[in-house]
Amino acid sequence: MDPEKSGIAAGVPQQDTRRSKATWNKTKAIFLAAALPFFYWVYWGPLKSLPKSPIDWKPCREDSSFLCGYLEVPTDYDNPSAGTSKLALTNYPATSRERLGIIITNYGGPGVPGRDASFGEAVRIQNVTGNRHDIISFDQRGLGHSIPKVDCFGSALKYDRFKTNTVFQTTFSVPEDPFSGEGRAILVEQQKEALALEETQGALCAETMGAETLGYMSTTTTIYDMEEISRVLVGEDALINFYGGSYGSIVGAYLGNMLPHKAGKIYIDGIVPADMWANEHYDSQVLLRLLLTDSEKTYQLFLTECFNAGPEYCPLCKPEDASAQDIEQRIDDFVATLQEQPMRVANYTSPGYLTSGGVRSTLFLALQMPSLWARLTQMLAAAINDSDGALLLRFVMRGYVEPMPADPEGYVETGQGELQRLAISCGDARPYLEDEPWPTAEEIVDKILVTLVTRPRFGATVHLMEQHGGCHFWPGTGAGPARFTGPFNKTLATPTLIVANTHDPITPYPAAKIVHNTMGASSRLLLQGTIGHSYLAPFTECAAQVIRSYFADGIIPEAPETYCPREVENFFVDQGRSAAHPKLLQLLGIDVD
Ligand SMILES: *[C@@H]1O[C@H](CO)[C@@H](O)[C@H](O)[C@H]1NC(C)=O
Ligand SMILES: *[C@@H]1O[C@H](CO)[C@@H](O)[C@H](O)[C@H]1NC(C)=O
Ligand SMILES: *[C@@H]1O[C@H](CO)[C@@H](O)[C@H](O)[C@H]1NC(C)=O
Ligand SMILES: *[C@@H]1O[C@H](CO)[C@@H](O)[C@H](O)[C@H]1NC(C)=O
Repeated sequence: MDPEKSGIAAGVPQQDTRRSKATWNKTKAIFLAAALPFFYWVYWGPLKSLPKSPIDWKPCREDSSFLCGYLEVPTDYDNPSAGTSKLALTNYPATSRERLGIIITNYGGPGVPGRDASFGEAVRIQNVTGNRHDIISFDQRGLGHSIPKVDCFGSALKYDRFKTNTVFQTTFSVPEDPFSGEGRAILVEQQKEALALEETQGALCAETMGAETLGYMSTTTTIYDMEEISRVLVGEDALINFYGGSYGSIVGAYLGNMLPHKAGKIYIDGIVPADMWANEHYDSQVLLRLLLTDSEKTYQLFLTECFNAGPEYCPLCKPEDASAQDIEQRIDDFVATLQEQPMRVANYTSPGYLTSGGVRSTLFLALQMPSLWARLTQMLAAAINDSDGALLLRFVMRGYVEPMPADPEGYVETGQGELQRLAISCGDARPYLEDEPWPTAEEIVDKILVTLVTRPRFGATVHLMEQHGGCHFWPGTGAGPARFTGPFNKTLATPTLIVANTHDPITPYPAAKIVHNTMGASSRLLLQGTIGHSYLAPFTECAAQVIRSYFADGIIPEAPETYCPREVENFFVDQGRSAAHPKLLQLLGIDVD
């Protein structure tokens, strides 16, 4: 970490925020204390039980084994006059009678709406944590059923039109020799397109949403919202338990370091170093380069698994193949062909063309989710074998949402997940200073070229596949309450449990190691032999047992680091403890039919 950069951001007076928040709470507590006896006397007579929860839980429409509700929170914890915001929550109650409390969750992104994701994932979390906690999920501000919500374009269709067949959807086409003058120019042209799109959507969001509203969408605000959820559900001084993956690992790190006195059991996997997230400019590519450390290694394992499984399980493999290299070569040749000439796709409801970038982003998504391998390799094989790109194009264009009528509660899907993601990542981002020039397309490409030296296949894919860049155009950047910027090494009474996968293409073990080193004795690291991103990878039974003991019995692993070896013979054939519930995939816009 560049200490000078951290120094600039660390100048933000975090202490003041904390203090004023406590004052706000106190004011509210006094108000409640004064009002409650009267309230009870009038309506229910003498006090019999604890005050009613401000969340009116009702069985959820989607799944009646869950409870759904809303919590009104102050929009600005330092400034009551800013009004209130509304968080949408779900509760999957503890299934064991020996209930211990609640665990608050985050499913990553940023931008995966927790309410909807919970219908797929909370059952798994309930199981892996030993069934003794209510699993509480919520939509962060800007997302899902919470209010306000990011809707810059006014409709899913308008946003779809905006991004269709642009680099936002296809990601970069990477020339054969990106390091040549000609190759670099091709990348620069695409990066210019990306910057123009980022600038346009930023301007539109400023107009339709406004900087002030967007400024409250950040991880810092999310932590205070989680504190509020814990306060109303458990109590003023309750310790906060947390379970989060991917971006959720950032939420876990902010939680432990912003509120160390309230940190309970914190579990994070799919680790992104929060310090770099908060203090590095994303466009510097420094964080992305770290995150892609294991991308090639993971791709190689994917190819080996495909070869070992054979054509019966992996359609990318042909009977005559002598090794995984033959499969690798076939895919490389296909990508090179598309780079020369995109493939026409006429027989798809939304006709278009398949590009090399679309194939790269599909492959990269496959590396994150073995549960999709059967389906994705079949699509790729159809395109490679039979020049039939229809299924693959449909996949690349994921996110397309047919206009849908509002549900009974008036909820309309806005189809702008990318912007909801950007609202949070830019809300967390270090703003450019007055005299700090904005990055040009050429500068960004030169940084991508450095990444491409060691991460040749996906080094130019992910920064557009998962939008985080261009925060200098985003109206919410630096507009909200003081961002938390660290330090991230607070001492915690209960060490945080950090989990990494041996083959995670986007949140590798070295990133987890950085967080573990920063937190020292306040964390334990567990590495498990599996392939995939964060909780989208099949879990080892060994890791599940460690996690269960941690939450259900309070057992902290003794050793600073634990290793759980691989348990699955071949990931094409058998995924053991499978992950990624279809409902979650649907949320990610992945069509699993
Ligand atoms: C979790 O689910 C698995 C099946 O997927 C089951 O074998 C196991 O007993 C469950 N564990 C708990 C603690 O519920
Ligand atoms: C591609 O070809 C191989 C053998 O040549 C075959 O096993 C596989 O099923 C084919 N895939 C598709 C989708 O046609
Ligand atoms: C699309 O057209 C190709 C020929 O161009 C054909 O082989 C393929 O079966 C068609 N795919 C679908 C999904 O209709
Ligand atoms: C925590 O980090 C800060 C800034 O990065 C550093 O100055 C401090 O010495 C660290 N504290 C501990 C206990 O390591």
